Amino acid sequence: MTSVNIGIIGGGLMGREMASAFARWCALTDVPVRPVLTAVADLNPATLAWFDGIPSCTQKTTDYKALLANPDIDVVYVAVPHHLHEQLYGDVLAAGKDLFAEKPFGIDLASARRIHAAAQASGRFVRCSSEMPFFPGAQRAFELAKSGSIGRILEVVSGFHHSSDLDPTKAANWKRLNAMCGEGGALNDLGMHACHIPLRLGWKPSRVFAQLQKGYPQRPDGKGGVANCDTWDNALLNTWIKVGEREVPMRLEMKRLMPGATNTWFIEILGTDGGVRYSTADTKALWLFERGKEQFWKRTDLGFSTPFKTVTGGIFEPGFADVIQQMWAAYLMERAGLLNGRFGCATPDEAVATHEIFAAALQSQAQGTVVSL
Ligand SMILES: NC(=O)c1ccc[n+]([C@@H]2O[C@H](COP(=O)([O-])OP(=O)(O)OC[C@H]3O[C@@H](n4cnc5c(N)ncnc54)[C@H](O)[C@@H]3O)[C@@H](O)[C@H]2O)c1
Repeated sequence: MTSVNIGIIGGGLMGREMASAFARWCALTDVPVRPVLTAVADLNPATLAWFDGIPSCTQKTTDYKALLANPDIDVVYVAVPHHLHEQLYGDVLAAGKDLFAEKPFGIDLASARRIHAAAQASGRFVRCSSEMPFFPGAQRAFELAKSGSIGRILEVVSGFHHSSDLDPTKAANWKRLNAMCGEGGALNDLGMHACHIPLRLGWKPSRVFAQLQKGYPQRPDGKGGVANCDTWDNALLNTWIKVGEREVPMRLEMKRLMPGATNTWFIEILGTDGGVRYSTADTKALWLFERGKEQFWKRTDLGFSTPFKTVTGGIFEPGFADVIQQMWAAYLMERAGLLNGRFGCATPDEAVATHEIFAAALQSQAQGTVVSL
């Protein structure tokens, strides 16, 4: 078993999620690389205090540069607001560390391209967080699409919905402000989730028509005042992709105003000979289309068939915390040259490709036209 020392910059929602995935690494049975959380940096001392419960995490600092100066750290995971991505990712690479970046990999396309260039110039191992493809149902959909058994692809829908902006009394945070989340808003926030599997299948849109919607222009600021919220909340992207020689419609949906949805990732791929539907709203259910004399949508209940094997019983259902751990296993195994054909984390190329789609969508919305990529 090889240990890899990890530093986390940004111990908020995602920083703590990652730390807890490391803490139950013993669940994995075929991953000979082990992350050891060694240091955390966050501006908020109260956030740092949560890491007191992790004995290996001996450096807790409000200055991320102190973490980067720690020679023991091999890999740095950064989970901070989007306007800080470029600076911090660049600093991680300049410090000679490998980087596990968060999406959207920079606040906009120009920023993503600069991060990509810095990553290439550094020669460090860099990947971007995107955990939803590690659900067994997502993996099955991906493998089925790749196999060609679906026949001629007719249509693809891929998306991510939640409803946390429906409540107008919810206080604004940085994800509702263009200055910190980026002009892309929901595209930056949720777009990687919708694009990752299509991009891995080579399905990058050639043309985009976007319908973007804003939510409430003002929200409580959480301190007794009011904050102006200027981000796009919902994004519907009608795109064309090329599959073989044919053009195929693909709809990408990213919504923070979807009544009833809580972190719902879904994909639907329809073909002439078969089809597949999977949604985390019904985590175990995989729907497969079968064309014969009669046509069937068959449902099967998936178990815990994750890419990296675990002690968890095969009939048990996986959840968000499990796919976060699977994603980290993929990062560390690929870094060690041990991925062996399994699904790898989002690459810098894929992260830049998502921003190319978002930039085209913003242009389409502004002009009311179809935009070519
Ligand atoms: N993969 C996913 O499913 C997923 C889910 C949510 C968020 N994210 C991404 O993770 C990133 C962070 O989002 P979050 O929801 O964890 O945000 P958050 O607001 O919960 O946490 C951000 C943390 O960064 C800290 N911070 C800000 N500036 C800092 C600095 N200069 N040095 C050190 N710490 C600093 C803040 O104090 C805060 O604790 C974003 O890129 C977001 O898009 C990914």
